[in-house]
Amino acid sequence: MFKIPDWFTSWSAKNPKDIYGPAILVGAVGGAVFVAALIVTWGYPAPTVSTQTGPRGTGMSITDFARDAGRPDPTIEGFVSFDVVPPQPGDARAGDVIENAEPLLADLTVANYERLIRAMQEWTGIPDLLETEEENYQTIVARSMIEMTQNINEGWVGHVGDTGVTCYTCHRGEPVPNEIWFKITPVNMAAAGWSAVQNRATPQSQFTSLPSDALEKLLLDGERISVHDLEPRVRTMPGDPTWQDTERTYSLMNYFSNALGVNCLFCHNSAAFFDPAQVTPQWANASIGISMVLEINNDWLVPLGDVLPEHRLGPIHGDAPKAACATCHQGYSKPLQGLPVLSDWPELATTGEPVYE
Ligand code: HEC
Ligand code: HEC
Ligand code: HEC
Repeated sequence: MFKIPDWFTSWSAKNPKDIYGPAILVGAVGGAVFVAALIVTWGYPAPTVSTQTGPRGTGMSITDFARDAGRPDPTIEGFVSFDVVPPQPGDARAGDVIENAEPLLADLTVANYERLIRAMQEWTGIPDLLETEEENYQTIVARSMIEMTQNINEGWVGHVGDTGVTCYTCHRGEPVPNEIWFKITPVNMAAAGWSAVQNRATPQSQFTSLPSDALEKLLLDGERISVHDLEPRVRTMPGDPTWQDTERTYSLMNYFSNALGVNCLFCHNSAAFFDPAQVTPQWANASIGISMVLEINNDWLVPLGDVLPEHRLGPIHGDAPKAACATCHQGYSKPLQGLPVLSDWPELATTGEPVYE
């Protein structure tokens, strides 16, 4: 049988040593080498794929987990659409036949009127939308929403393209779209000034310490987003952006990235955020998007504050629900991954007469 030699036992007794420290070190290093060896031989357990977004050599790419790439947006399945019924000469108009037809849509043929109403009910999850005996607030809101949707598709074609938007783009089958926002500042009652609007993890700050009023100041009040140039700023001049302006811009940019499921390099070369010559085509698209969102909020959604019931208004300021990039995009660089939702709905594509082909 194996026996520890006597010389070792006596040497060991004469030279007491704490072996715990070295043993932990050897164990930790050995464990790391083992895990690294596993990863090298078996492959990284959460592999990623990158899509190049800028010229070669700039390192511009966006990264996804391979398991997410190519997975369809689950809400695409819930989009219902009905084929256009091309009007024939002599077809009756909804306004002449249907009692209490919605005046805005009264010129549509009966078949197209009915199919549009049915679709709007599905898209918003309101089964009796525009068919109630009494005119309720939802009827008034829906009327404004139809005009807003037509206006987006016609006036902001530079952003929404032929893909377009329908009620489903924002509503996804629910009366209240899930990516709306309200004013929430001040978020820190104990502080005044700068600190009052930041250093609290809120959805509006993307759960960072950055300001929680970025959407309010930049996508509602229309304040200036640009903060970056090559001035040394040794002395601050009147009108120069402040530190907090910079943080607010950064807060908005985090929001953009999360809303679209991308990173900064989808739109910028991060080596030169200030340089308009080094942006991607998506930057231009985003830039139009900013103006579009300002209009959606100020011209369409804020006025609904007078119409919506109190329980639909903001918890702190009683303000109307507002939209931003995520309201349509919901985590994808194109809403519903670019599903051309408008192709069957010429009625929602223009503020004028629908064009049926
Ligand atoms: C740009 C995004 C967007 C689009 C497109 C859109 N909506 Fe809305 N809708 C909203 C927001 C934001 C609200 C406010 C949420 C609330 O009522 O609390 C709203 C509210 C409503 C409400 C009131 C729901 C309630 O119970 O409070 C109705 C009805 C409605 N929309 C109908 C429509 C119809 C019909 C369409 C398509 C013709 C449409 N919406 C298109 C964003 C949108
Ligand atoms: C979807 C496109 C998009 C994404 C993603 C994006 N940005 Fe921006 N960014 C823009 C646009 C558009 C502007 C210009 C806004 C304006 O001035 O009206 C801008 C402006 C800026 C500015 C100010 C530039 C100046 O001229 O002062 C900075 C800094 C910036 N972004 C940083 C970032 C950072 C950091 C990220 C990632 C966290 C990011 N951006 C993600 C589109 C984007
Ligand atoms: C009313 C709905 C809506 C809102 C709000 C909206 N977008 Fe979009 N956006 C779209 C649609 C639809 C497309 C797809 C256009 C196409 O297919 O050509 C799109 C496309 C884009 C693209 C191009 C993506 C690509 O892969 O090429 C960018 C970038 C973008 N949006 C950024 C933004 C930003 C930033 C905001 C907020 C400031 C915003 N969008 C707000 C509907 C919207």
